[in-house]
Amino acid sequence: MTRPHALITGGAGFIGSHLADVLLDRGFEVTILDCLLPQVHADGEMGPDGWPAYLDPRVRRIYGDVLDADAFEASLEGVTHLAHLAASVGVGQSMTNIVDYTRNNALAAAVMLETLTHRPHSVRRIAVASSMSIYGEGHYGPTADGRYVSPPPRTHEQLKARRWELSLDGEILTPKPTPEDKPLQPTSIYAVNKRDHEEMFLAVGRALEIPTVALRLFNAYGSRQALSNPYTGVAAIFISRLLNDQPPLVFEDGEQRRDFVHVLDVADAFAAVLESEDPMWEACNVGSGRSIAINEIAYVLARLLGKNIAPEVLNTFRVGDIRHCFADTGKIERLFGFTPRRDFEVGMRELIDWVRSVGRPIDRSERSLAELAASRMVV
Ligand SMILES: NC(=O)c1ccc[n+]([C@@H]2O[C@H](COP(=O)([O-])OP(=O)(O)OC[C@H]3O[C@@H](n4cnc5c(N)ncnc54)[C@H](O)[C@@H]3O)[C@@H](O)[C@H]2O)c1
Repeated sequence: MTRPHALITGGAGFIGSHLADVLLDRGFEVTILDCLLPQVHADGEMGPDGWPAYLDPRVRRIYGDVLDADAFEASLEGVTHLAHLAASVGVGQSMTNIVDYTRNNALAAAVMLETLTHRPHSVRRIAVASSMSIYGEGHYGPTADGRYVSPPPRTHEQLKARRWELSLDGEILTPKPTPEDKPLQPTSIYAVNKRDHEEMFLAVGRALEIPTVALRLFNAYGSRQALSNPYTGVAAIFISRLLNDQPPLVFEDGEQRRDFVHVLDVADAFAAVLESEDPMWEACNVGSGRSIAINEIAYVLARLLGKNIAPEVLNTFRVGDIRHCFADTGKIERLFGFTPRRDFEVGMRELIDWVRSVGRPIDRSERSLAELAASRMVV
C-alpha cells in the first residue's frame, strides 16, 4: 500500500503544526500550504528559511493562499488526505473586518471545493476545522419541569442590565454539555463563516463521494499558540498579561464556562478521523469533556506563574459572546473511538513553560480592547 500523504492547509499555525507532527508519527507524508499571516506569525518564531522554526524538517512547505485555486491545485499533488485548517480566527475581529473574514473563511471554501470538483486530484478523505462558536449559546437543562433547552442568545437589553445568566420564565438555566444536534445559532461573522464552510464541505464532499468530517473544535490551548495575536486564545492572552505583571482582563463577571482542550488531543482527533476508512459525512465535537470558568483559568495561571494578581473583572460584554458552552464528546468517541486524554493543569504548565522558552510576549490586550470599544463591539 502506498504511504498516505496529507495536505494540511494552515499547517504552519498552532493546531496545523501539531497535526503535522502527529501525522508524521503515524506514517503519513505531510505537505503544508500556508500564507503565513503576519498577525499569527511574529518574526521571532521564524527560522532561517522563513518558516516557523518549530516545523518538523520532514514537512514539505508550500507558501501560498487557499484562495488561489492554482496554488491549492499544485499543493494537492499526490495528496490522499486533506486537513483544512487555514482560517482567520479572531471572533471579535471578525465583527469589524467582515469582508476579510468572509473571504478567508467562506469564499476560500468555495475556491477549494470548486478545485476539488473540476480539477484532477487523488484526495480520498477530508477533515475540516469547524468551531464550537457555530452553536451560539450552549445547551441547558433540566428546567424545573424537566426540559432541556437551546435558548437564543441573550438580548442587548439583558446584557446592558448586566444580567449575565440565561433564564427561562424567570428560572436561571443550568448549562449542560452541548451535543452536535443542538440548533446552530452563530452570533459572530467568524461563526457564520465557520458554519457555512462546514456545511459547504459536507455538501460537496458528499456529492463527490469523498468522506468528509467537520471537527467542531472547542477552545484549544498549547505550545505554538500565537501569543502576538490579541484576538485569539484566552489562556495565551492571560499568560502574556501575567508575564507583563498585568491582570487578565475578564469580560462580564468571569463566570462564563468554556471547554479547554489540549492541542495534542485536537491533533489526535484529526488523525483518528483521517485514518478511519468509514464513509462518513458528519460533524463532531472535539473538546475535553469538562468545563471551566474564565475566572478559574485566570487564577490557575496566576498560581502556576507564581503571580499574586487577580483577574480584572470588566463587567462589560463583547457583542456576540455567549455565556456557556462546553462539549458533549460522545459522538466522536462512538464514531471514531476518540477520547481526549490530556490533563488540564499539566497542559497549562506545558503552555507556560513554552511561553517562557520563547521570551516575554508583547501584551496587546488593551489595544485590541480599545479597537473593539471604538467599533462599539464592547459595551
Ligand atoms: N485555536 C482554537 O481554539 C480553535 C477553535 C475552534 C476552531 N479553530 C479552527 O482551527 C483552525 C486552526 O486554528 P489555529 O488556532 O491553529 O489558528 P492559527 O492562526 O494558529 O493558524 C492558522 C494558519 O492558517 C494560515 N492561513 C490563514 N489564512 C490562510 C490562507 N488564506 N491561505 C493559507 N494559509 C492561511 C495562517 O498563516 C496560520 O498559519 C482554524 O480553522 C480555526 O478556525 C481553532
